[in-house]
Amino acid sequence: MCGIVGYVGKRPCRDLLIAGLEKLEYRGYDSAGISLLQNGHIDSVRAVGNLANLRAAVGIEGEGGNGGVAVAAPPATIGLAHTRWATHGRVTEENAHPHGDCEDRIQIVLNGIVENHAELRRELEAEGHSFTSETDAEIVAHLIERHDEGDLTDAVRAAFAELRGHYAFAAMHSDHPDTLVAARQECPLVVGIGDGETFLASAIPAFLAQTRRALLVENGEIVTIDAAGAALTDGEGTPVNRESEEVTWDEDAAEKGGFPTYMLKEIYEQPDAIAETITDRLPATDRVDLSELELPPDFVAGMRRIVIVACGTSYHAGLVGRYAIEQWARVPVEMDIASEYRYRDPVVGPDDLVIGITQSGETADTLAAMRLARERGATVMALTNIMGSQATRDADTVLFTRAGLEVCVAATKTFTAQAAAMYLLGLWLAQSRGTLPPERIAELIAELKGIPSKTAETLEAVDEGVRRVARSQDEARFFLYLGRNIGLPVCLEGALKMKEISYIPSDAYAAGEMKHGPIALLDESTPVVCVATESPILDKVLSNVAEVRARGAAVIAVATEGSERVAEVADQTLYVPPTDWVLQPILAILPLQLLAYHVARFRGLNVDQPRNLAKTVTVE
Ligand code: AGP
Repeated sequence: MCGIVGYVGKRPCRDLLIAGLEKLEYRGYDSAGISLLQNGHIDSVRAVGNLANLRAAVGIEGEGGNGGVAVAAPPATIGLAHTRWATHGRVTEENAHPHGDCEDRIQIVLNGIVENHAELRRELEAEGHSFTSETDAEIVAHLIERHDEGDLTDAVRAAFAELRGHYAFAAMHSDHPDTLVAARQECPLVVGIGDGETFLASAIPAFLAQTRRALLVENGEIVTIDAAGAALTDGEGTPVNRESEEVTWDEDAAEKGGFPTYMLKEIYEQPDAIAETITDRLPATDRVDLSELELPPDFVAGMRRIVIVACGTSYHAGLVGRYAIEQWARVPVEMDIASEYRYRDPVVGPDDLVIGITQSGETADTLAAMRLARERGATVMALTNIMGSQATRDADTVLFTRAGLEVCVAATKTFTAQAAAMYLLGLWLAQSRGTLPPERIAELIAELKGIPSKTAETLEAVDEGVRRVARSQDEARFFLYLGRNIGLPVCLEGALKMKEISYIPSDAYAAGEMKHGPIALLDESTPVVCVATESPILDKVLSNVAEVRARGAAVIAVATEGSERVAEVADQTLYVPPTDWVLQPILAILPLQLLAYHVARFRGLNVDQPRNLAKTVTVE
């Protein structure tokens, strides 16, 4: 999740733009850059690392800097700036934004993923365009150059029409010193309306210190800004009328994007996190592209087994992945908690793929388990959210989730992004090993592509119902979570969230195992959360729910929209949209994240920094 900031007005904007980037640091980044237009000339500076490096590079007072290429501040009153969370191309100065066209007369900054960047690049190179970066984003500058006939808005609209993906971008042109033009497709974009000045940004905090008037840009829209304000148009050029709104957030809320806590903000960022993780790995309707793994085809075809090692929430994402990989690719998957795996002298070797799942990429036990497997000749893959983390150095190959920085200790968006990445891996292995017919793969790809919008839909639809359940259960002394098959990892993760942030003892059990002991725990005061989404074994789950009801326990069920049978045996039912049963966990976890969240909030607890817990466990 990159950060975009733009300004056009009467004030020198170098410092304004960098201050705006600082307000977007929570999105996470590994490099940054700025372009300023003055007297028909654009000056650009990029820097790897944190904003202090960019400040130094632009020679901001007292920041050292190289002085040589110091941007001609303070006169410049129009510019673009960007923080990069690398997805395409390494973390280098060349790959940092802004990116220019062949003559550097056009500069762009982009947040998101351009799905069809490879084919567009081939076309543009054939037309003689020369590229200076490895990024997908640079495409946009050259596309605008291709369509440039003197009107920047028209050129941006034409370029926008050729792009596919999940992104928002802004453009500046040396021939248009009073105008910036931006466009949005899924990724957030907002305009700040000031007095004789106008801002563009990925999020309101970037300009909130300067103005509290915000104009939201919706999907498929193009916005042209100048010092006097903003003009919205759609993809055809038709004007769009929309009022700007007064933002009432305080500084703290601004850091959290208007949400009361980082946890709730990150729960609502899941549609973006999933979309950014899958979009460009599904370049077509019938193909998964994980060529970034660079795994030799004969190894993929001949691998004997997959072993997944991880801790906490990442372990639960691995469990979801196991069901998908075994179901689709028919490769046996062994799971182990990393802190156990590393001390059990595991039997592992060259025909095995060992996957270390770790969002931070720094969890000591997971790293040690990965190193052990590598020493014994296994091929090791890291599934991580952080570029440049230790896990990326301890692995033979890396699959990145793209959830952006996760501040809250309790993992939410990294869990669903990890689950999405495991679904990609399961489909890719099935595709590579020929274990699923092409039409079935196309079916599952279509379902997976539908998950980001279904996630947004679920969060919208289920929150009120979850609050009611949470209000009725916030005095509970124990929660039991029951599920079967692919519903079990959802229960384990739901119980972990409840434990982590509400401090209520909670346990998750395979529902079929209940009558072998845990059923003794049940009485009228025990809320039992059952994951009962559509699946081949729903009947079994329902009979277990009946056993629970018979002991007088209150049943809160998570069910698939339309399956009335569950509501008949549950006291409260929370519905999620239908999708393929193997993909259901990525939706079914949402009500459980919210349940833990609201119970903890009703108990007045600090959900972002729970007691006794650290975001990254680097000790053994
Ligand atoms: C989850 O909410 C916790 N923060 C914790 O269990 C976490 O998942 C575990 O420490 C693993 O972290 P990692 O993914 O960074 O390796």
